[in-house]
Amino acid sequence: MIVLKTSRELGFMREACRISAGALQLVGKCVEPGISTAELDKIAEDYIRSQGATPNFKGYSGYPATACISINNEVIHGIPSKKRILKAGDIVSVDLGAAIEGYNGDNAATFAVGDISDEAKRLIDATRESLYEGIAAARAGGRIGDIGSAIQRYVEARGFSVVREFVGHGIGTKLHEAPEVPNFGTPGKGIRLMPGMTIAIEPMINMGLPGVKTLSDGWTVETKDGSLSAHFEHTVAITTDGTQILTNV
Ligand code: MF3
Ligand code: CO
Repeated sequence: MIVLKTSRELGFMREACRISAGALQLVGKCVEPGISTAELDKIAEDYIRSQGATPNFKGYSGYPATACISINNEVIHGIPSKKRILKAGDIVSVDLGAAIEGYNGDNAATFAVGDISDEAKRLIDATRESLYEGIAAARAGGRIGDIGSAIQRYVEARGFSVVREFVGHGIGTKLHEAPEVPNFGTPGKGIRLMPGMTIAIEPMINMGLPGVKTLSDGWTVETKDGSLSAHFEHTVAITTDGTQILTNV
């Protein structure tokens, strides 16, 4: 069931998303060679709690941390660890969210650790831009396939590939609600986008082939071919006045 939010509910969504975005921005500023992913996770959790919110990934389906932190060929759901130390040349994807007053925010970004290769920069830039292409294609009266098609067209034209096994999602009183929001598709297909819908759009883009596998920890998802992967996510609201990004700082 797709839940349409009232303007009062959108106010709570805005608050949850503002805190989610603040936490992601703060973690991004702390990314540097030598820091562990567990330290980044603690920075995120402390910030979210300091705002009176709760880390909504923690305990979700048993997930053990505030953030998912995925390095290089890891696509999503990397579990923070004291033993994972960032080094110059890595790319690191951070995905996190906060809940407040029963409403959820969710966002992600991929950061460079020190100097990275031009290829890795191109992947990160294309993934970020593809998210904005997807957001621009998301309008009341349009369809869900408009979003995925815009993302897919943008990244495939640059020689990158779209992960199929994981998709974006509706979001509200639950972190994951209907509908699914694929990062691939056909314009004009899929459910209709309506004012009051809040969705998380989150392209996961690989430098090589699109295939992924989940590791034996039950969480970490990696590219099958070992190639680099990037991930950006915003929570947005579809309104009659256009689509608003709720997770902007
Ligand atoms: N961040 C994921 C998403 O964007 C959800 C993470 S699953 C969790 O939808 F268990 F880590 F919370
Ligand atoms: Co999400």
